[in-house]
Amino acid sequence: MKLAVVGGGSTYTPELIDGFARLRDTLPITELVLVDPAAERLDLVGGLARRIFAKQGHPGRIVTTSDLDAGVEGADAVLLQLRVGGQAAREQDETWPLECGCVGQETTGAGGLAKALRTVPVVLDIAERVRRTNPDAWIIDFTNPVGIVTRALLQAGHKAVGLCNVAIGFQRKFAALLDVTPGEVHLDHVGLNHLTWETGVRLGGPEGEDVLPRLLAEHGEAVAADLRMDRELVDRLGVVPSYYLRYFYAHDEVVKELGSKPSRAAEVAAMEKQLLEMYGDPALDEKPALLGKRGGAFYSEAAVDLAASLLGGGGSPYQVVNTYNNGTLPFLPDDAVIEVQAAVGPAGASPLAVPRLDPLFAGLIANVTAYEDLALEAALKGGRDRVFKALLAHPLVGQFGYAEALTDRLIAHNREHLAWA
Ligand code: G6P
Ligand code: MN
Repeated sequence: MKLAVVGGGSTYTPELIDGFARLRDTLPITELVLVDPAAERLDLVGGLARRIFAKQGHPGRIVTTSDLDAGVEGADAVLLQLRVGGQAAREQDETWPLECGCVGQETTGAGGLAKALRTVPVVLDIAERVRRTNPDAWIIDFTNPVGIVTRALLQAGHKAVGLCNVAIGFQRKFAALLDVTPGEVHLDHVGLNHLTWETGVRLGGPEGEDVLPRLLAEHGEAVAADLRMDRELVDRLGVVPSYYLRYFYAHDEVVKELGSKPSRAAEVAAMEKQLLEMYGDPALDEKPALLGKRGGAFYSEAAVDLAASLLGGGGSPYQVVNTYNNGTLPFLPDDAVIEVQAAVGPAGASPLAVPRLDPLFAGLIANVTAYEDLALEAALKGGRDRVFKALLAHPLVGQFGYAEALTDRLIAHNREHLAWA
């Protein structure tokens, strides 16, 4: 089995390699190609990747290349994990929205729109090249904003599934609190990428007993603290929101907080510098603990599970993925991309039924879906007015004055990445 990772020079890659090495029985990779335009990073990351495989006795071959077409040739699955403009562009996304009193975040609000505009054309171009050499390959998209990027891929007819580590993170956390194995925890997970709620926590599978009320009664304090949300909020919702909901439920508080400390991008850039130095050390042959300070914990395990199922192997039968709605949430268009539990296999992902959703969640999901629709329009066709409308539709922007000011800033800060600007 051959896998290609586009954005393989990412400092995150050793996390992926570690997962591939540990879980090689689930996903027997014979060749792994790391594709990245940054040759120097690729050398450092590729070197460590080979040492991790060697130490763990993984027989697979690791190849590095900056040639996308050659790299994806013959791959059964292609993982996309890239960041157009790197941490420097992310830093902008996290900064200029704050000038307007709006949250500055890489996937939520105006910053998330900027990222979508930069990213969608690049990902579509890559996917087109993958399809040309390799029409049967599955595309697994980790590239943010995952909901919008996955919708762009599906609309263009690609064999794609979007993936995020939020659900697997909750699964691991809840399993520890409940003292069961992660595999026993089935989440009723619903919403859009980075806008989800765990509405049930079942033991054993989709029909298992829902222990969420017990989990909240016994561990509500820990769950809320982890999300940096009020316990009272979590109790009154009666479900567990993802930490990205804090940007909505505590927007003004977050804006104040973000304005008074260095950006996450700056923090990550400093960590990346340190990580790359470590990766260059020939004695290092495992993923360093510092990588645990990044947000991507367990993303390798989610990737292995999904790739194994799509490629016909032994992944979990149900997984949380991003895919077409197709009537699952009846208040959304069929071609909206949602993040839910789905049955996953060689034919792709098919969402499990979701019981009627409380308007408290459905309203926000519908609103953000409308924004994502307009955001994708703007990403595909460009133009100031499309950017403005997407921002006006976003529940965290909404006002004419803000949308105007944010549109100007978004364009000014991203001109070099926007072909139409
Ligand atoms: C979580 C999200 C990812 C995001 C990451 C950021 O894992 O699910 O989509 O890319 O956090 O982590 P970072 O360490 O870059 O802030
Ligand atoms: Mn994510």
